[in-house]
Amino acid sequence: MEQVYITTPLYYVNAEPHLGHTYTTVVADTLKRYFQSIDYEAFLLTGTDEHGDKIAQAAAANGSSPKEYADRISDLFRSTWDECGIAYDYFIRTTDTYHQEYVQKILQTIDDAGEIYFGEYGGFYCYGCERFYTEKELVDGKCPDHQTTPDYISEKNYFFRMSKYQERLIDEIQNKPNLIRPERYRTEVLAFLREPLEDLCISRPTSRLKWGIPLPFDANYVTYVWFDALLNYVSALNHRRGAALQDLWPKAQHLIAKDILKPHAIYWPTMLMAAGLPLYDHLNVHGYWVMDSGKMSKSLGNVIRPLDMKARFGMDAFRYFLLREMAFGQDAKFSEEALVTRINADLANNLGNLVSRVLAMQQKYFAGVVQSLDSEWAREDLELSAKFAQAETELNGFMAELQFHRALESVWSALDHANRYIVQTAPFTLIKDPTKQARVGAVLHHLLEAVRTLARLLAPFIPDTARELSALLALSDDALKTPWGQGFAAGHTVQAPRVLFPRIESDAKK
Ligand code: MSP
Repeated sequence: MEQVYITTPLYYVNAEPHLGHTYTTVVADTLKRYFQSIDYEAFLLTGTDEHGDKIAQAAAANGSSPKEYADRISDLFRSTWDECGIAYDYFIRTTDTYHQEYVQKILQTIDDAGEIYFGEYGGFYCYGCERFYTEKELVDGKCPDHQTTPDYISEKNYFFRMSKYQERLIDEIQNKPNLIRPERYRTEVLAFLREPLEDLCISRPTSRLKWGIPLPFDANYVTYVWFDALLNYVSALNHRRGAALQDLWPKAQHLIAKDILKPHAIYWPTMLMAAGLPLYDHLNVHGYWVMDSGKMSKSLGNVIRPLDMKARFGMDAFRYFLLREMAFGQDAKFSEEALVTRINADLANNLGNLVSRVLAMQQKYFAGVVQSLDSEWAREDLELSAKFAQAETELNGFMAELQFHRALESVWSALDHANRYIVQTAPFTLIKDPTKQARVGAVLHHLLEAVRTLARLLAPFIPDTARELSALLALSDDALKTPWGQGFAAGHTVQAPRVLFPRIESDAKK
């Protein structure tokens, strides 16, 4: 069985789960479910990043110790993902003992290999990013991501000889064109690597920061954030799956947004090289969700919380919007108006109507009992099944490129075709003709096949709805996999329709 290992970033515990975190996590969950649907064994890791200055500062502002504070917010992330139905296999915290021990072990290995040295460095430090910036990287003297003026920090610290790995990293990226994808981010990384790479500062003196992992070779220093957090991707596997480090680790697909491209595309692979570990399989980078009012922030009061969205619109509707609206790799705009428009058009109208019309006719004309197919299929029957087969082929192609919105477009194009097939074949008119009863039974049978195919194809994206469709069709998961025309045994009875997605009236748009 083929394997895939999917990861989200470890989210900082200085903020509560919001739209941005939810998008990456929903994408990771969708990808896991998709891989399982094509018979892969998939392992999904998420968790929280808990060390460093900004967590220590947030805890102090909250009047709690860093650990108490981290416990509370980490629990909040975990329970949020549980309530959102995210099928993660393991949740790691960077304060977990095994993780800290693993980081120390790797630090020791790299130090023994002579890849760490002690030196003095001065640079512009952004606490938001928890990294140094070169003067060139700053825009008008500010961090381009946080728009804050970084502190100039100069002190003695430990450094990882990252510069040594520059050529090897360039080769790896050039030899494997989809190591970093989409292309625009690969290009950005290669452009960055045209300049000489600096070594990476990996420590803080305990006199200034205690909230980190002690260096195994100098108790006066801790490591934190990047050298600590990036190693989670292997420490978690090592802890949970032991031997899987050999087979599962090279199948790693990281999911991140563009804000943490440099640590994942440059620090992380060079750390892996120094530790003698293989590189990840893909670094998948998406864009940012922006609000009409600009960047999402607490101070602007425009933070979107996943559980609010779930309560108001339902988790599947929210998931659908996220996956359908953003082209993976590019930025997208979030607005409630766009969300409501999509739910009403795609889910309530197109999908909801198809399912309810088909089940209502099945109920009304045949008391829910599925009729047999014609021995010879009509041209429109063949076109309908071909359209769904085409949607599946396209979906597989788009999923391999993480083009979730295009995968959904393909499915919706088949769905639209099914709605047109109802108009073409007009079972509601044919039923009035006593000689056409068998044809009506066959037409509805094809439409039930369309709904059955939808239950299978949509399961990774909107899993609760897919389960609901299977329940309405009275079919098990296995029964979803058989070819078109073989899904329903003679005498099989399907259920009466239920409303899948109620239309949202415009007063909810506020
Ligand atoms: N702790 C580091 C990551 C360490 S990984 C070893 C970190 N944490 S974070 O809480 O700031 O999370 C950043 C990630 O959250 C982004 O890469 C992205 O996955 C998600 N997003 C946060 N805001 C976002 C948007 N506005 N839009 C899309 N995703 C964003 O960085």
